[in-house]
Amino acid sequence: EKGGFDHYMLKEIYEQPRSIRDCMRGRINAAEGKIALGGIKEYANKLKNVERVVIVACGTSWHAGLAGEYLIEEYARVPVEVEYASEFRYRNPIINERDVVIAISQSGETADTMAAIEIAKDKGATIFGICNVVGASIPRVTHAGVYTHAGPEIGVASTKAFTAQVTVLTLMAFYIAQQRGTLTTSKLTSLLTELNSIPEKVQTVLANNELIKDIAAKVKDSRNCLFLGRGSGFPVALEGALKLKEISYIHAEGYPAAEMKHGPIALIDKEMPVVFIATKNSSYEKVISNIQEVKARKGIVIAIVTKGDTEVEKMVDYCIEIPDADEAFLPLLATIPLQLLSYHIAVMRGCNVDQPRNLAKSVTVE
Ligand code: M6R
Repeated sequence: EKGGFDHYMLKEIYEQPRSIRDCMRGRINAAEGKIALGGIKEYANKLKNVERVVIVACGTSWHAGLAGEYLIEEYARVPVEVEYASEFRYRNPIINERDVVIAISQSGETADTMAAIEIAKDKGATIFGICNVVGASIPRVTHAGVYTHAGPEIGVASTKAFTAQVTVLTLMAFYIAQQRGTLTTSKLTSLLTELNSIPEKVQTVLANNELIKDIAAKVKDSRNCLFLGRGSGFPVALEGALKLKEISYIHAEGYPAAEMKHGPIALIDKEMPVVFIATKNSSYEKVISNIQEVKARKGIVIAIVTKGDTEVEKMVDYCIEIPDADEAFLPLLATIPLQLLSYHIAVMRGCNVDQPRNLAKSVTVE
């Protein structure tokens, strides 16, 4: 049932070209620059005038939410707040009927996310769900929603559900932009055409598996690891760190790269691997300076770079290339090598990757 793979996690990582494709199916018309999201179409008018979007989620789904914040603010020009459901629910949150709340949950059963929805609903907000498990508790209590259609995710570490959540959030950002007129049809056409090519690009990232395994062998005995990125690379860094810690038990932290000098830089020495999201986008030059700061302190740098990059390659210990893409799609591509890196490190350390200690697939108690 693992389809020839050693673990569900690896199978699910490799399913991503297909799961991302399934998630987009029937929802985009690239030629005409149009998005159709049947689940929320009755709310098109609401979205046209929405003043604020609040995203609630836990764990990896919360990271997808952060990627969504970047997309919705950038394209639909609506302010977004991303909240840990567990914090939101106990804070007497300021929410009203003009707000749209998006709850993200793979399982659709997470207790804190469920409670956050009930509170926001009581305060009159419109609640959308982004869930993977059809008919689960969360999709039943939301007003409307969009399923991720990633298929069953068995590995406790979320992989294909994350990229599907980000895909839905990308579609939602474009959909809200479409209602509000913040994206021209020609820009939307080009973004959708590029989104259509993402599954193939994910496939080319997967082809780096052997290289990633070799890098994993070099850093598998580390006690700590830092993940740094800027802009849409920041949620990728957080997700990379969570994946590594939950399945390999190596202590890992994700930070916005610029925050390094406000504390974490003190940790850097020759034993510390630092993974950078260093692709060619708006923050490229700034990330390069951050890499120099780490190399000056003898840190071991692993960089995720845009294919054909030569500048970063000269400075770092290990490079993993991903295809060139608009910054909007960075999380969909840059997360893949980090999933594989964590996977191989965990296997080499003899960990139970599909069922890490102390963790459950759905967290139905708070
Ligand atoms: O089912 P959910 O998306 O609501 O679950 C949220 C988190 O429990 C989940 O993402 C968790 O962080 C994963 N183990 C991460 O890989």
